[in-house]
Amino acid sequence: MTSTITLTRPDDWHLHLRDGVVLRDVLPHTARQFARAIVMPNLKPPVTTAAMATAYRARILAALPEGMHFEPLMTLYLTDNTSADEIHRAVDSGIVHGVKLYPAGATTNADAGVTDLGRCMAALEQMQALGLPLLVHGEVTDGEIDLFDREAVFIDRVLIPLRRQLPALKLVFEHITTKEAVHYVQEAEGHMGATITAHHLLYNRNALFKGGVRPHYYCLPVLKRETHRQALIAAATSGNAKFFLGTDSAPHPKGLKEHACGCAGCYTALHAMELYAQAFDQAGALDKLEAFSSFHGPDFYGLPRNTDTVRLERTEWRIPDELPMGDSTVVPLDAGQSLNWKFV
Ligand code: NCD
Ligand code: ZN
Repeated sequence: MTSTITLTRPDDWHLHLRDGVVLRDVLPHTARQFARAIVMPNLKPPVTTAAMATAYRARILAALPEGMHFEPLMTLYLTDNTSADEIHRAVDSGIVHGVKLYPAGATTNADAGVTDLGRCMAALEQMQALGLPLLVHGEVTDGEIDLFDREAVFIDRVLIPLRRQLPALKLVFEHITTKEAVHYVQEAEGHMGATITAHHLLYNRNALFKGGVRPHYYCLPVLKRETHRQALIAAATSGNAKFFLGTDSAPHPKGLKEHACGCAGCYTALHAMELYAQAFDQAGALDKLEAFSSFHGPDFYGLPRNTDTVRLERTEWRIPDELPMGDSTVVPLDAGQSLNWKFV
């Protein structure tokens, strides 16, 4: 049985770092494991301009503990009013690596999201021309659509027409959760990738209701049934370069998760690589972990692969119940349970 794995240092292609005191507490977890991360722009207010992204990047670097290395890859938050000029400024800044599409109201801090993609055409055409990727939260927000069908319906209603209009637009289908999304990405022509979280590889929707409501397994897009989880495992372990790591680690204070109207988001930055290793190990595919974690992402984004390495050891350890975060605490995924792999 393999007892250690050495990997090229991985990157996280979808991460929420928040800001202020929360940023200060969560950033070291990510920076310990990953060299770079695509940093989501859903702050309050959202990061909608190149100038705001530059300022946020500076705050992230200022929050990084002495001696740690980490490169934040910034994103803009697409709104109905994002202009082609702003896209130009983003590309010129050299620090913006994608533009995030949140359908209005789809998730945490998505109130300023896009109401109609038709309103963003000038920005999207400019992104296509300049090769700046669109990062898509792929769920419709139509209240008539069953919560568990929102991703599949998004493919038909939004993604297929969009890609017909802008076939050369670079696009990442973020945190995919269904077999429909896996098949769509596999078959898609052009420059298309998809990120997969560790929690969607490890859990199906039963985890949300095991013996009672389990708010720490609630994220968006929500966990789906087992057949979908199996399709995600098959995609992640296939070696197909379209699929790569994106934790979607999304910290919320404990009290807002354990709440009558709990926030969406799982906190996995603490133990991200251990969770992925567990999922790949269970699938008998540890040999596929490195390409998924460390090669496919930079190749998609046109960035160099990292050159240093990290190591995981087969050691059982217990995930803490909670961790300090700002003036509250955050509960990591699988708190109190044990993991078989440890990042050393
Ligand atoms: C994210 C958050 O909390 O910012 N939550 C989540 O459940 N993933 C937003 C998002 O990525 O949808
Ligand atoms: Zn996210």
